[in-house]
Amino acid sequence: MSLQLRTFSETVDLVLKPCNILLGVTGSIAAYKSVDIARRLQEEGAAVSVVMTDAATRFITPYIFEAVTGKPVPVDMFKDPFSHINLALDAGLFLIAPVTANTINKFASGIADNLLTNLWLTFKGKVIMAPAMNTRMYQSPIVLENIQKLRDAGVHFVGPETGSLACGEEGLGRMSEVSDIVESVVRAMTPDDMKGEHVLITAGPTAEPIDPIRYITNRSSGKMGYAVAEAALRRGAKVTLVSGPTSLQPPSGAEFIKVRRAEEMERAVMESLPSATIVVMAAAVSDFSPVNTALKKMDKSELSEIKLRQNNDIIRQVGADKGTRILVGFAAETGNSMDRAIRKRREKNLDLVVMNDVTTEGAGFEVDTNIVSVIDAEDRITEYPIMKKIEVADIILDRVSALKG
Ligand code: CTP
Repeated sequence: MSLQLRTFSETVDLVLKPCNILLGVTGSIAAYKSVDIARRLQEEGAAVSVVMTDAATRFITPYIFEAVTGKPVPVDMFKDPFSHINLALDAGLFLIAPVTANTINKFASGIADNLLTNLWLTFKGKVIMAPAMNTRMYQSPIVLENIQKLRDAGVHFVGPETGSLACGEEGLGRMSEVSDIVESVVRAMTPDDMKGEHVLITAGPTAEPIDPIRYITNRSSGKMGYAVAEAALRRGAKVTLVSGPTSLQPPSGAEFIKVRRAEEMERAVMESLPSATIVVMAAAVSDFSPVNTALKKMDKSELSEIKLRQNNDIIRQVGADKGTRILVGFAAETGNSMDRAIRKRREKNLDLVVMNDVTTEGAGFEVDTNIVSVIDAEDRITEYPIMKKIEVADIILDRVSALKG
């Protein structure tokens, strides 16, 4: 057994650092949400420059963006003769959110009558647009045709979503949630180093019913498994997420299979397994389930003894017929239980086991951070400092990629 320690700076980096993002804001009520987009992108490590159309300044003042980004916010293309070139050259990604029907139509036909539309013509990198408009405008054949034209030119569209619109109507046209827009930028800027891989992930607890009201479960928020799913999607993998009951939103783009009982999780895993190249099992599977499930609520006098049977160990079955797959298991322990984790890795034929001590602050349930040690097939232990679960997820995938060679 050998031990390696990594420092925080060696392992953790901001997702979007270093990256210059040009954020175009056009004239829609949703423009106020762009302030949050700029802020969130900066929190991910990006440098954000904002460009507005004249119409956008009717909804929100450039001053707000200047305060948030610390940079001037150009609107008028005649103020600086080269801003329509220089801003495009400096940026790694061009996000236009919100983008109106008017600007979409201008983009599609190459009209360059303001700074933003000029930048669209000079910019040569990845472009993401998040439309916001009234349903009828969105469904106009001209707008739909122009969106298709832009898609064919390589633009990635996020949304719009169905929901209540500023005009009071319900329908398709609402700008996507800020978190979805930021996520699409993060995905676009993350190298596709897992393209071609199919990552099968289990997450969350299982719930084994005693009667319609009571069940046996394990503590698990599902956050770690969902973070692995998110990280794998960002890196271009196909992702199947088999999840027990959690309160989390499944990451967009994942094949999501919702289960309750260990038996259902086992079935879902076995069905998805044939095409999986990487299997990461973060679920806290209940070890036992009641032999009988009562159809009606049981009287508490009947509950002092419940007959249990042991559930199948799903990861052990996968390990027994692993083939060329890389198999990663988790060991949530209390105290320093390195020996238990090492034993689990050997007994279940895992390539890596990720151990955490749930009694340590910052490594337990419900929190967004974790403190893990990774044990490899030679029983080498690498201890990592406290970091966000999404960063732990990337480290796990880095370790998996290194094994794939
Ligand atoms: N696991 C599984 N199926 C089970 C139990 C566990 O797939 N029925 C997986 C978990 O998802 C995890 C690993 O096995 O990746 C270790 O889980 P853990 O509960 O720590 O292991 P157990 O072997 O059940 O050991 P313990 O006695 O500590 O509960």
